[in-house]
Amino acid sequence: MSIFREKVCLVTGGGSGLGREVCSQLADRGACVVIADLNEEAARDVAQKISNHGGTAIASYVDVTDSKSIEVLIDAALAQYGRLDYMFNNAGITVVGEFRDLPLDELKKVLDVNLTGILHGSHYAFQVMAKQGYGHIVNTASGFGLVPGPTNLPYTVAKFGVVGLSETMRCEGLDLGIKVSVICPGYIRTSMIDNMRTFNADSADVISQILAKMVDPQQAARLVLRGVEKNRAIIAFPSYVGVLTFLYRCFPRLFLRYSLTTIRNFRKIRKS
Ligand SMILES: NC(=O)c1ccc[n+]([C@@H]2O[C@H](COP(=O)([O-])OP(=O)(O)OC[C@H]3O[C@@H](n4cnc5c(N)ncnc54)[C@H](O)[C@@H]3O)[C@@H](O)[C@H]2O)c1
Repeated sequence: MSIFREKVCLVTGGGSGLGREVCSQLADRGACVVIADLNEEAARDVAQKISNHGGTAIASYVDVTDSKSIEVLIDAALAQYGRLDYMFNNAGITVVGEFRDLPLDELKKVLDVNLTGILHGSHYAFQVMAKQGYGHIVNTASGFGLVPGPTNLPYTVAKFGVVGLSETMRCEGLDLGIKVSVICPGYIRTSMIDNMRTFNADSADVISQILAKMVDPQQAARLVLRGVEKNRAIIAFPSYVGVLTFLYRCFPRLFLRYSLTTIRNFRKIRKS
């Protein structure tokens, strides 16, 4: 029997991509899923598909950048189901470009969703789970939470923060009965990639420079849930994320040489 059976699972950014697949696979395993997204229509669509397949799901609006919105969301889940077993803080956005080209408000926007948004969800879920004496928080970072990502600076800053937040919460949560995992995937074929926002370069050119094989969201969600089942601290995939992390930590100069190719290649497609 799945450990997710009859468990209350809340997923932010559940209306699309990785979040949507995590929601579907949780429902397939018998969980009660709360699908929360800024795009409420997309969340409703996912909930409807799950219900049509006999699963249990409700959809809700959330803006993770607004702490009150997160509190309202979690309180509504508690009112409906009486507890919160899993909190997947997954909503995220990206913008690609050189640091010198990115306007400050764009940098802040990415930090607001990808770091402050995850802080909001973690903070309130942690308080609720501390009172319960159990629960599992699962935060979505990225491979760029483990190694620097030139041309993805605000994203990298946020995701390094998410890894630090999650690993520290894992320690503080241990004696309180709270588990914490952080997801560090490489590229996943989702709308974040397909509708990539770029500065000073065409997104098609940027995408054409991604050499790494992209994982499909279904496979990514399977790996995520397997890692959560095993209560892994860091759920990193595919294998190149582990290889690059090893290279970065053990051979930083070699890693820098590798990283330089990314920014130098980007400068070949940079518009001015
Ligand atoms: N796609 C990749 O290559 C990749 C790789 C590593 C990590 N990730 C991470 O995976 C997570 C999911 O990304 P995805 O690839 O599925 O992207 P996606 O664009 O398909 O889904 C992101 C979802 O987050 C929602 N969202 C955005 N801002 C929000 C806000 N303020 N409040 C609530 N919801 C909001 C969007 O509406 C969307 O439904 C993100 O944290 C992303 O950084 C993605």
